Amino acid sequence: MLNVQKVRKDFPILKTGVIYLDSTASSLTPEPVLDKMLEFYHEYRANVERGVHHLSQKASEEYECAHAKVAHFINAKSDSEIIMTRNTTEGINTIANGLDWKRGDKIVTSLVEHHSNFVVWLRVKNRHHMDLEAVRPSEPAEQGIISLNDFEKAVDDKTKLVAITHVSNLLGTIMPVKEITKIAHEHGAYVVIDGAQSVPHMKVDVQEIGCDFLAFSGHKMCAPTGASALFIREDLMKEIEPLCIGGGTIADAGVDYYKLEENSSRFEAGTPAIAESIGLGAAADYLQNLGMENIRNHENKLTRQMHEELQELPEIELYGPEPKDKIGIAAFNVGNLNPHDVALTLDVSANIMVRSGHHCALPLMKNVIRKPGCVRASAYFYNTKSEIDKLVSAVREISATMT
Ligand SMILES: Cc1ncc(COP(=O)(O)O)c(C=O)c1O
Repeated sequence: MLNVQKVRKDFPILKTGVIYLDSTASSLTPEPVLDKMLEFYHEYRANVERGVHHLSQKASEEYECAHAKVAHFINAKSDSEIIMTRNTTEGINTIANGLDWKRGDKIVTSLVEHHSNFVVWLRVKNRHHMDLEAVRPSEPAEQGIISLNDFEKAVDDKTKLVAITHVSNLLGTIMPVKEITKIAHEHGAYVVIDGAQSVPHMKVDVQEIGCDFLAFSGHKMCAPTGASALFIREDLMKEIEPLCIGGGTIADAGVDYYKLEENSSRFEAGTPAIAESIGLGAAADYLQNLGMENIRNHENKLTRQMHEELQELPEIELYGPEPKDKIGIAAFNVGNLNPHDVALTLDVSANIMVRSGHHCALPLMKNVIRKPGCVRASAYFYNTKSEIDKLVSAVREISATMT
């Protein structure tokens, strides 16, 4: 079981008394991760994979070790399947721009996606004169649950790629990615999974899912900003043309030719975010030490509490599925209030941080929720029952006084 009070001591920001319910946007960073990054600057500050001197050797060793820790965290077969990126968006764009598309190819995605796993594919469709089908959630659509039957109907032999989020950033809905991957592979299509909201909150095992690509964000799983990862199945490395090439990506070059590395280094052009990537490795260790099962169990309790208590309030419209089908997100509106006003009031009156707006999910917002925006409170393992009590009571107050 998670000792939440002990865990909270690792997060300096929580000592200020703030109630942080915006981890879906970006999580807080614990001291052990900050210490690990500082260790790089204090003890072996040098470039990686470029020097024979001992500082560079040590930095390279730690940087490579971070790849191995991330690989272990998602059960990749080897650390050479992990590419350090800035964020999930960069990971998805790497695949979208790196595959060899043909006119008439088809992409299947869903209406539940974050823009980073939606507009990227729209651009590919437009550039290469392809088809794109976005599967709509089944009714009641505001739960964001995708039926496998609908996916089966959308994926055909022209489908080159299926791009699906593992967890909706707006509704929290968990998608059946293993089953979707199976359907896609039966038609010879690649599968890209947007793991931005799953990898921080549950055990994600790329071998069990069977996906070809998985992108996720370090900054949503206790790592610093600027360090994230893209998993590419080892046998597919050579099929993807890197977004950037240059230093670090080259096996050989002459005046009129170059040959890219065939392993993951072909994707890491230029000096990487070294301290941040080492921090990502430390974050993977930190979460693993807490136990992903313990994290999930604790979050499940908070999810149920948030969902059930907010649902009871007058004037509240709550979106998303039942707690058992989602991670710790409550997306809601309070009467006709502007969601930004609600979020600002929660900050000013109760020191509670939540996100408001369209949550970079406009296709879902416009076509399913049919509102310009909503409020999203999101819990992580460092949140407590009493913080959710305070959220519910502050929302009750807003509903009573402002609607
Ligand atoms: C589901 C999902 N996909 C992609 C992203 C984009 O992540 P990043 O900003 O790290 O690129 C987010 C960010 O909120 C997200 O929630």
